[in-house]
Amino acid sequence: MDTTIDNAKFKLERDEIVAIPTETVYGLAGNAFSEKAVKKIFDLKKRPLFNPLIVHIGSIEDLDKVARDIPEKAIILARSFWPGPLTLILKKQDRIPSIVTSGKDTVAVRIPNHKKTLELLRSLPFPLAAPSANPFGSISPTTSEHVRGYFGEQLGGILEGGPCERGIESTIVGFDSLGQPVIYRYGSLSAEEIEQVTGPLRFLTHEEEQPTAPGMLLKHYSPKTKSFLTDNITETLTSLEGKRVGLLLFKDRVLDRPDMEQEILSPTGDMGEAARNLYAAMHRLDQKELDIIVFEQFPQHGLGVTINDKLKRAAQD
Ligand code: TXA
Ligand code: MG
Repeated sequence: MDTTIDNAKFKLERDEIVAIPTETVYGLAGNAFSEKAVKKIFDLKKRPLFNPLIVHIGSIEDLDKVARDIPEKAIILARSFWPGPLTLILKKQDRIPSIVTSGKDTVAVRIPNHKKTLELLRSLPFPLAAPSANPFGSISPTTSEHVRGYFGEQLGGILEGGPCERGIESTIVGFDSLGQPVIYRYGSLSAEEIEQVTGPLRFLTHEEEQPTAPGMLLKHYSPKTKSFLTDNITETLTSLEGKRVGLLLFKDRVLDRPDMEQEILSPTGDMGEAARNLYAAMHRLDQKELDIIVFEQFPQHGLGVTINDKLKRAAQD
C-alpha cells in the first residue's frame, strides 16, 4: 500500500487516486485537469458535488496555469506563506474542470509544505486536486494509519510522510470585490500571522458564506461519539455522573478523575503542539466506545481561535 514518489506519479498519470502527506493533513490526490480522476475523489470520499476541492501546485510559477486576474494582495500572501498552510481563493482558469470548483468561477489553490509531496508535484505536468483524506464529515487524517483505516485498499497508494507537522487544515483566504482579503476558513496559519502582512482582516459573514463556501458546513470533522464543548470542565462533569466520559484537554489533567480517559494536547501549553495532536487524540478517544467526549475550550487567540472553531464544528449535533 505504501508507495514511492515514482509509483505515485505513475498512478496519478493514469487517473488513479493517491494519498499524499502535507504539513496540515493527508490529502486524497488526483489530476486536477482530469474530470475522471476528480470524480473518483468525490466518490471515494462520499463528498457532495457542491463542495469544491483545493488545487495543489508545486511552485508559484504554476499559479497562472490555474488562476487569473490575481489581486496584488494575493501575490503578497503567496510570497509570504507558500509553501505553507494558506489556501487562496482566486478566479479560475478555464482549464480547471468545473467539477473541481463545484461550478464556481473561483478555484482554491495552495503550495503544500512537505518535501515528498513537493517533489511529486514538481515531477508532474499537472496540479493535484486534493481534499483531506477522510470520508465526508469524519475526523481529518494526520497519519498514514488514519488514511489506511478509512480507505484501506481502495487507493492507488499512500505516500508515507510521517505525522503531519501542523495537524490542522490550511487557512483559506478569499478576496472581496475590492481585492481585500477575507478569511473563509480558520486553519493552521493564525489570523494574526496573516494580518501582519495584510493589516486587519475580517471573517466571511454567514450571509456571504451560503453562496460562496458551501464546504464550511457547521458540522464537520466529527467523531462518531457524541461530543460536547465546554469552558468549564468541572461543572460539565458533575452533570455526567455514571457515564463513560473521555476528556480532550489543553494542558492540565483533571486530577480527581483518574477513572476517565484523558488526552492532554500540550502539557506545556503550546498551541502549535496542541494543534498537531488534536485530530489524532480525537481519533483515539473515538475508538474507546465512550458515551461522550468533552472538549475543553481553548484561549481565544492565535491558533486557539482555529482549534475552538474545529471543536465547535466537531461537537455540533
Ligand atoms: O490543509 C488543507 O487545506 C488540506 C490539505 C490536503 O491541503 N485540504 C483540505 O481540503 O482541507 P478539504 O476539501 O477538506 O477542504 C477544502 C475547503 C472546503 O471547505 C471547500 O468548501 C473550500 O475549501 N473551497 C474549495 N474551493 C473553494 C472555492 N472556490 N470557494 C470557496 N471555498 C472553496
Ligand atoms: Mg476536509
